[in-house]
Amino acid sequence: MSQAAYVCDELYRRGWTEAIGGNVSLRMECGGTLVTVSGCRIADVSSDPQRCLGVVDSQGEVVSGFAGGGCPTSELGSHLTTLNMLEADGRCERAMLHCHPPAILALGVTLGEMTGEALTELLWSMHTECGLIFPRGVGALGAMVPGSEELGAKTAEQFKTRDLVFWPHHGLAAIGKTLVEAYDRIDMAEKAAGIALAALQASGINSKLPEAIVNATRAMAK
Ligand code: 13P
Ligand code: ZN
Repeated sequence: MSQAAYVCDELYRRGWTEAIGGNVSLRMECGGTLVTVSGCRIADVSSDPQRCLGVVDSQGEVVSGFAGGGCPTSELGSHLTTLNMLEADGRCERAMLHCHPPAILALGVTLGEMTGEALTELLWSMHTECGLIFPRGVGALGAMVPGSEELGAKTAEQFKTRDLVFWPHHGLAAIGKTLVEAYDRIDMAEKAAGIALAALQASGINSKLPEAIVNATRAMAK
């Protein structure tokens, strides 16, 4: 099974996508970008890759795939602007993943608008592995129209310095060297958000990892 199909199955299994939610992209060695078709059920990708996946060039023109005649994900702007920026900056990340994980969405609703710094500090302080898995933290945007040019441009800008970007009332986006690394980053952030949310629902957040420990784990990240 391809990396894209494996990750799409996981997104569905974890309940991080519903109806047509979620999309993935992977810059390939040949320079093309593998992306999911717009409007597909993520659960269908592994059983019907010919219809659910296709390749676009760096401007978003379809090169191959999308056998059912579909078009690339409506979040293509975020994916391509980000992957083009990463390549131009000589970075090693080649994959981007977007989905709708419930705990971090609920945390955003609970705490209201947050800066990336505040959200990052909170998530890092919930679990020791966070600093290791997303050492550059989470950027946070304001609410935006899905698939909009503004969302794409602001997301790519955040990825210059962050591993993840939070879209309030919508979801998370992550980059990684592989789609599996991007998936793991979402998994870790969602775990930390779930811990924070459970604590807020109980007696509140009464303990946070000391900054020295967070920084030591971040320093261990490759
Ligand atoms: P697409 O099906 O067009 O990828 O849209 C899903 C989504 O999650 C939009 O944000
Ligand atoms: Zn979405």
